[in-house]
Amino acid sequence: IGVPTDAHAVTGFVAVAETTADTVTLPPGYVFNALLTWGDPLFEGDALWGNGAGEINGGNLTAAEQARRVGFNHDMLALFANPFGSPASAGGQPHAAYIAAFNNEYTEPVRMFPGFVAANPTRNQIDTEINASGITVAGIRLVGNVWGQDRTMRVGDVPEGALVARRITGRTRFLLDGPAKDDPRLSGPVDGTFSNCAGGFTPWGTYLSAEENFNFNFANLSGVPAGQTKTTHQIFGMPNGASGTLWERVYDRFDLTKMPNEGFKQGWILELDPYDPTRRPVKHTAIGRVKHECATVVVQYPAGQTKGKVALYSGDDERFDYVYKFVTDGTFDRENPRAKAHFSLLSAGTLYVGKFNADGTGQWLPVTHANVDSLAPGAFADQADICIRTREAADVLGATPMDRPEDVEAPHDPLTFAGTGKVFMVCTNNSNRGGSATAANRANGTVRSSAVDAANPRANNRTGHIVQINEDGNDHTATTFTWQFYLLAGDPKAAAGAVGDVKDSFFGDRFGSPDNITFDNRGLLWIATDGNPASYPCNDQVLCTEIAGNGKVRVKRFLVGPAGCEICGPLFSPDNTTFFCNVQHPGENVASSFPNGTGPRPSMVAVRRADGGIVGT
Ligand code: FEO
Ligand code: CA
Ligand code: CA
Ligand code: CA
Repeated sequence: IGVPTDAHAVTGFVAVAETTADTVTLPPGYVFNALLTWGDPLFEGDALWGNGAGEINGGNLTAAEQARRVGFNHDMLALFANPFGSPASAGGQPHAAYIAAFNNEYTEPVRMFPGFVAANPTRNQIDTEINASGITVAGIRLVGNVWGQDRTMRVGDVPEGALVARRITGRTRFLLDGPAKDDPRLSGPVDGTFSNCAGGFTPWGTYLSAEENFNFNFANLSGVPAGQTKTTHQIFGMPNGASGTLWERVYDRFDLTKMPNEGFKQGWILELDPYDPTRRPVKHTAIGRVKHECATVVVQYPAGQTKGKVALYSGDDERFDYVYKFVTDGTFDRENPRAKAHFSLLSAGTLYVGKFNADGTGQWLPVTHANVDSLAPGAFADQADICIRTREAADVLGATPMDRPEDVEAPHDPLTFAGTGKVFMVCTNNSNRGGSATAANRANGTVRSSAVDAANPRANNRTGHIVQINEDGNDHTATTFTWQFYLLAGDPKAAAGAVGDVKDSFFGDRFGSPDNITFDNRGLLWIATDGNPASYPCNDQVLCTEIAGNGKVRVKRFLVGPAGCEICGPLFSPDNTTFFCNVQHPGENVASSFPNGTGPRPSMVAVRRADGGIVGT
């Protein structure tokens, strides 16, 4: 391949070198500030804590305090204009106020409580952890060149509005809707959300959160009698013995031996209205129950029309699991975006699972009872059963097991959410690909091949890849598509056979384990990573990609995070003058004092140019 010169580049920043520095490293001319750090108070009058502002109770937040503060281990991030629908550049000025909503994926008590004894968490520590899980909603405001929290922000940015700030925790009461809402397995209260990974946001102004590795919070599957419930829980990796959190010591709902059905209340896509704190959040069973990574929404408007069906894309992040699309029955009306009917759009529709053929074509296979029952008569009782046992249904259909589908994103118009027909699916890695013949088998005996295939072409895939899906007719409701690789991640300069050898896939800066992606206003795809190969001396990072003059993808490293972290929730402000991301688990397996010398503490980060210009140009 010829090596194009930078004359082809539309990104003018100077690429950042690999580094293990314990800070956010940026190109020359860029600055960052941390905000909404774990433990920061959400409400005026509550004591500042951490970050050099002193500690409450010797550094141990009580559960009551934690419920009023920013949660732990930020992941997905979304911004909502406040008031809803206010233009991005009113009067020529960029937005300076948003409602920020972000996931708090999981807790790390060893970094939350001084002197934490892993074998023996106290009841208050467990309660604090449960309250540090879930979702944080907070107002943010730009003052000068610095984004900060606005603890007095109200919905609509008016004095009579409700306070924006709120917490959804492991105790928040949820509603259920969709085909499985009345299934006996889901009866009783649905309290809490856990393992909230990525998610999405809708043109009607709601936040979507994806429940991913919920198995981590449950215990004692060994005591559940053999049968369908046990098998389904095994397929999700529920532990036979103690949970990773030990919460079952205090609460029976995490003990599957005592309450086997509680596990079925996690693994959903939930919807939250940041503009209306009185609207109870909803778990949407129609979208299926898997280890959902994300919930990316686009609207498919027929030519010349202002109403269209909604397509929602989600990955199931497990080795050899699948990618899903949900298409609503109802339509979104962009001329009345906050219409009441929109709040039930995700309650009814058709769930599909992806099949990737060797010839570059693919199908979205309907995960419907009629379709599954025709192939496996009697295996599923009804659509509710399909929604609860979605992985098993997808197995029956012959979907393509992928190398851990993480984020799935579709570039779209920021106001109308009209898509382009293009969808990008991130497969983060799969070290079991091409491994033992049984590596992909299910606990219920379903035999799947772990062999390399056209869409997962590398054995021991430690660096991952990104697949581009082209919906047929550029129609997001289509059931057929073509696909190609956007890139194979790794090191384009590595010797053949080395870890992450990706000669000819792209040129530029090496990286591994792409996880979350986003697009800027120019349609350039930006990548945040979760786990660079140990042989790359670099913390997790953010990279910008562009199609260069020779048609190949050029990758430029824009940001390197602090020590031990993963970068989550990459997102541009609508005017592209700020790049936001979340720093999750700084200090994992390595010392870190991020963000300001007293950490490690998970935190949101806002990156701007010192001159306030467009990021990435
Ligand atoms: Fe929570 Fe798949 O990352
Ligand atoms: Ca994570
Ligand atoms: Ca992720
Ligand atoms: Ca990941």
